[in-house]
Amino acid sequence: MKNFKNIIFDKRDNYYLIKVNRPKNLNALNQDTIAELKQSVDFIKTNYKGFFGVVITGEGDKSFVAGADIKEFTGLDKKASLKFCKNGHELFNSIENMPIPVIALVNGYALGGGCELALSCHIRIATKNAYFSQPEINLGIIPGYGGTQRLTQIIGKSRALELMLTGEMINSNKALDYGLVNQLANDNEDGLVKCEEFIKTLKRKAPIAIKNVIKSVNNFYDKSSNGFLEEINSFSECSSTSDFEEGVRAFIEKRCPDFKGE
Ligand code: CAA
Repeated sequence: MKNFKNIIFDKRDNYYLIKVNRPKNLNALNQDTIAELKQSVDFIKTNYKGFFGVVITGEGDKSFVAGADIKEFTGLDKKASLKFCKNGHELFNSIENMPIPVIALVNGYALGGGCELALSCHIRIATKNAYFSQPEINLGIIPGYGGTQRLTQIIGKSRALELMLTGEMINSNKALDYGLVNQLANDNEDGLVKCEEFIKTLKRKAPIAIKNVIKSVNNFYDKSSNGFLEEINSFSECSSTSDFEEGVRAFIEKRCPDFKGE
């Protein structure tokens, strides 16, 4: 994997760690960062065997990601903004459809595109100093990286509309109360420990079943597909694996299963 300029890409024990690394700009997502994130996600998609999760976080302890890079907005016209949104959508859809769980470790500001990045992940763990908002309304635009859809899916229409119409920033306690985050952590270090604990739990599960849970749950939100039918197909795919045989045998023999991802 080549060296990146705007992100830090790290292979840890059984998981990948990706840090957005533009702390001077509060880790705002410029187009180069979007491209680097996409490259790293594409790499993981073909190299995930033996890995049980991905953690995405921001460098430093002030900001996860403070949104799209507003400095790149100057001169953004109708045509260029379509490409701008498309790039973000491609990346965030790709994250949402990863075969292994992706955890956003939200360690500070998660604003605009930063909140949308966290929303595209499967799980969100937020440090106590985390803040969430969709402040695009203050710039005269709307969320453009999937926020109108995913925020509504995750916290419901009333609360999502309130946040997007006002641009209000909410703290991590309120985000937990809204179901926007799964867990709170004290700080970056504690947050990473919590991510690692979660990944450790996944290590004991069947990888093909994990992939199919993600796929089936995502199908619920895919208006072009029948989620129930997709679930039946995914169940049937899992039932033809040796992990399934192992899981059933382990239950009968009253021991822990030893899944191989096969
Ligand atoms: N884009 C580019 N640069 C940004 C940025 C962003 N989104 N957010 C912060 N920065 C930069 C600042 O310009 C500043 O750089 P300089 O030192 O070169 O001036 C540096 O990061 C530090 O920021 P502040 O001095 O503003 O720090 P602060 O502590 O006073 O305020 C803040 C922090 C409240 C997060 C404030 O920076 C802020 O409001 N940022 C913008 C947040 C925002 O509106 N995000 C949404 C962007 S639009 C979007 O994301 C659309 C979409 O859907 C894809």
